Amino acid sequence: MLEKLVINGRKQLCGEVKIHGAKNAALPILCACVLCDEKVVLKNCPKLSDIDNTIEILEYLGCKVTREEDRVEILNSGYLKDNIPKNLMSKMRSSIVFLGALTAKLGRANLFLPGGCELGPRPVDIHIKSFEKLNVCIVEQRGKIACSTDKIKGASINLPFPSVGATENIMLLTALSDTKTLIHNAAREPEIIELQNFLNKCGADISGAGGNCIVINGVKKLHGCYHSILPDRIEASTYMSFAAATGSTISIKNICNEHIEPVVFAFREAGCEMNFVKNELKISSPKKLNRIAHIKTLVYPGFPTDSGMPIIAMSAIANGTTIFEETIFQNRYNAIGALNKMGANIKIYDRIAVVEGVENLYGADVEATDLRGGAALVCAGLMAYGTTNITQLHHIDRGYENIEYNLSLLGADIKREKE
Ligand code: EPZ
Repeated sequence: MLEKLVINGRKQLCGEVKIHGAKNAALPILCACVLCDEKVVLKNCPKLSDIDNTIEILEYLGCKVTREEDRVEILNSGYLKDNIPKNLMSKMRSSIVFLGALTAKLGRANLFLPGGCELGPRPVDIHIKSFEKLNVCIVEQRGKIACSTDKIKGASINLPFPSVGATENIMLLTALSDTKTLIHNAAREPEIIELQNFLNKCGADISGAGGNCIVINGVKKLHGCYHSILPDRIEASTYMSFAAATGSTISIKNICNEHIEPVVFAFREAGCEMNFVKNELKISSPKKLNRIAHIKTLVYPGFPTDSGMPIIAMSAIANGTTIFEETIFQNRYNAIGALNKMGANIKIYDRIAVVEGVENLYGADVEATDLRGGAALVCAGLMAYGTTNITQLHHIDRGYENIEYNLSLLGADIKREKE
């Protein structure tokens, strides 16, 4: 059913919002469940279409999955398939991490190349080269990758770029092996530490996640465990942008303060006050935001690329010019055309967006083109005069649970309607 979000802007937000479990932590952990021989119980698993899709893949592969609210139980039947249908693979990028998990468990995997947000070319060369170093034979043909190995052989791998997905894939490939693997220049994102913690609870022997080098001592068997997924730092920063854009004061609950740290400077520079108490952040925003001189996205612990677009949206009505530089993806700026349609003045020079603050934005009919760009349109709709209709909601539903419900509770005038 085609749906749209209808937002009547210019409402102040107040009250509190609770952040859900992190999508980008839950996805590789769900993939990792094919390695476990016993039941895994996950709590705080967000209700998102990407999670639904991953569960569908697990069921196709031969796992029994039950789900009640934010609790998901996964039991590997012991008879796994080595392939995933194209329609399931093409819905999201993170399904590539099944390559490592299935190859570790079965010695082979036959997967289609994954889909995901259209953020520019998203090759998997780093995954593939790393697998080859670990004695996995790879054949790429007509959009498919076939992996096979008689035995994973440990190696010292130097990643040319600290890719999140490649780091996760190597961890899953080698966790269940009888060899030692080192990943140098590994991704350091909190979701990598979370994957290490989960695998270790299941009996793996992995250390170093969060640092530059991860050491994986393979084990023969992984059992089940109970694990609660860490809070979503990107969902939290998105609600910070919603508060800042509307000159509001709100409390954001269930956050990990340390993981929010990389975005704090931007909100401070914009004039917001932030008080962190335990796992809660109170953010108070001025009526008119200041410009943020320069934001450059970087790998963790730098400024996260996924937090960028909502911040660009809020800076559209700031006092002065904000310079935003995207270094991770080539096409992060798909939503900027729609923001300009709403009255923003944003120019793109290759990877740099120059955001000239304007007085006001005005409601318009706009389309979400990717997940975080969709969140930026919601942000713009909240601060615009008049009504904004956002279509193509499947992008937003990949990463934000109950967005209209949460925003309504905070006092926004937002509804989901049939198109
Ligand atoms: C993860 O994507 C996240 N997805 C992304 O979140 C996030 O934006 C990204 O990390 C960066 O933080 C999940 O965790 C499911 P990468 P991933 O491999 O693993 C290039 C969101 O909105 N690259 O670190 O795909 C690649 O093209 C999403 O929730 C290669 O060139 O990120 C990109 O430019 C979107 N070759 C850059 O590295 C490779 O083999 C970062 O990719 C792998 C990556």
